[in-house]
Amino acid sequence: MDLDQALTTTRTVRRRLDLARPVDPELIRECLRLATCAPNGGNRQDWRFLVLDDAEVKEQVARHYREASAEYLADKPENANTAAARALAERLADVPALVLVCSRGRLAADAPPAKRSSFYGSIYPAVWSFMLAARARELSTALTTVHLAREREVADLLGIPFDEVTQVALIPVAHRLGPQPSGRPPRGPVEEVVAHNRWTP
Ligand SMILES: Cc1cc2nc3c(=O)[nH]c(=O)nc-3n(C[C@H](O)[C@H](O)[C@H](O)COP(=O)(O)O)c2cc1C
Repeated sequence: MDLDQALTTTRTVRRRLDLARPVDPELIRECLRLATCAPNGGNRQDWRFLVLDDAEVKEQVARHYREASAEYLADKPENANTAAARALAERLADVPALVLVCSRGRLAADAPPAKRSSFYGSIYPAVWSFMLAARARELSTALTTVHLAREREVADLLGIPFDEVTQVALIPVAHRLGPQPSGRPPRGPVEEVVAHNRWTP
């Protein structure tokens, strides 16, 4: 797949996840192999990935996700995005695989801006690479963070040492129902967000 095409068509898939078709674990491993080529601060490679594909484990994680999602969405307006988010929460346990992306370490509450940026900036390139690699293999993903309101409970459930390892994102992975997306996603014109040499409000 052409890189520009991957960059424009890697979308958040929540309703069109094929819950009936298993995902080959080796495909996920391939995507993670590519994800771990991403840039990261000091080349420390603090990323850790937990692939959840056991039905019981997924159901337990999904329970926390559903609770956190319901709380998060409680005061949000009903629109296409929140409806899709609700739909994902409902079916999460049945998605063939969930990839829990973690990073070794935990930011102190008073961590300075450069440290904060570097901490999350050292994991998100790998997250996006994983999603692009999945797209190139006709797998669908959705980047989610809502379960982090229950991070400690999920850490206890999965044996993650909470003080030493931070959960960053949970990515459902499935084959796609229906045609692959095409065209640019709904985004504003780039001219509205780019300036040269001096800040333009
Ligand atoms: C940091 C981050 C966190 C997100 N968390 C969630 C989430 O918890 N649940 C969810 O359904 N979608 C989540 N999303 C997906 C966004 O809602 C989605 O990217 C956005 O609506 C644009 O849609 P698109 O990716 O299909 O273009 C998240 C996206 C990002 C970048």
